[in-house]
Amino acid sequence: MYPELAGKHALVTGATRGFGKAIALNLARQGVKVVVNFRRSMTEADSVVDEIKGLGGEAIAMRADVGKIASLEGMFATIKEEWGQLDILVANAAFGVPGNLMEATPKYWDITLAASARSLLDMSKLAVPLMNNNYGRIISITSDGGQLVIPGYGVVGAAKAALESVTRGLAYELGPKGIVVNGVLAGLANTKSARSIPGAVDVMDHAKFHTPLGRIVEPEDIAKVVAFLASEQADMICGHFVTVDGGRNIVG
Ligand SMILES: NC(=O)c1ccc[n+]([C@@H]2O[C@H](COP(=O)([O-])OP(=O)(O)OC[C@H]3O[C@@H](n4cnc5c(N)ncnc54)[C@H](OP(=O)(O)O)[C@@H]3O)[C@@H](O)[C@H]2O)c1
Repeated sequence: MYPELAGKHALVTGATRGFGKAIALNLARQGVKVVVNFRRSMTEADSVVDEIKGLGGEAIAMRADVGKIASLEGMFATIKEEWGQLDILVANAAFGVPGNLMEATPKYWDITLAASARSLLDMSKLAVPLMNNNYGRIISITSDGGQLVIPGYGVVGAAKAALESVTRGLAYELGPKGIVVNGVLAGLANTKSARSIPGAVDVMDHAKFHTPLGRIVEPEDIAKVVAFLASEQADMICGHFVTVDGGRNIVG
């Protein structure tokens, strides 16, 4: 538990399921008020809000496509109206069409890069004016695909590489304002988007046998590290990615 987080305000993008849902619930357990962002899955977003309220927490579901600036502007205007402030931004949502890179069209490239990389910059520009209490945290979520080839990952790998670069750039530019920017590099987890990558389920089975800790990642593993990065325990970590993969990456 991180008692210093109680009463803070967070936006978690893509919080209807998978990592985002676990992150939103775990922040709520710390007493953080949470915007549960979604793009399409309103029923799931409402059920995450209900779950948070069931824990005694506060949450609001807000629709926005993170790949569209006007949509983000609308969501941030509502956050300003409702709360007047934002302390924690978790850029979790990503979108990409799985398949081979050679089959990716310019349209897929634009949509993927906008939703999975540019969104971090667009949201940071909107979030920073609301981070006005000598505290601010921006946390992005990346994967091995930013550095390594994941077959079938399409252009998401390029988006993750861009996201990582933007994370470091923001850490440099916003650090002097007291806003700390970091990321989590997550290992493979059995979520809806991971299952959509061709061959991913076989890779998951294989990963279990090559992971020192004997299992693949669960969303809650990522949620714990996000809360840590938001807490004062992580005050001096800046511009880095914490790898959460059970040790998978240390095995060749
Ligand atoms: N799962 C893995 O193995 C793994 C590994 C490393 C990193 N990651 C990263 O972790 C993050 C979360 O992935 P996940 O596996 O938890 O995915 P997931 O379970 O499929 O959930 C994706 C979430 O993102 C939302 N979303 C998709 N496009 C959006 C958009 N344009 N605007 C707003 N929300 C949008 C979805 O909401 P709607 O249904 O409403 O669209 C959903 O809530 C992603 O950045 C992913 O790249 C995942």
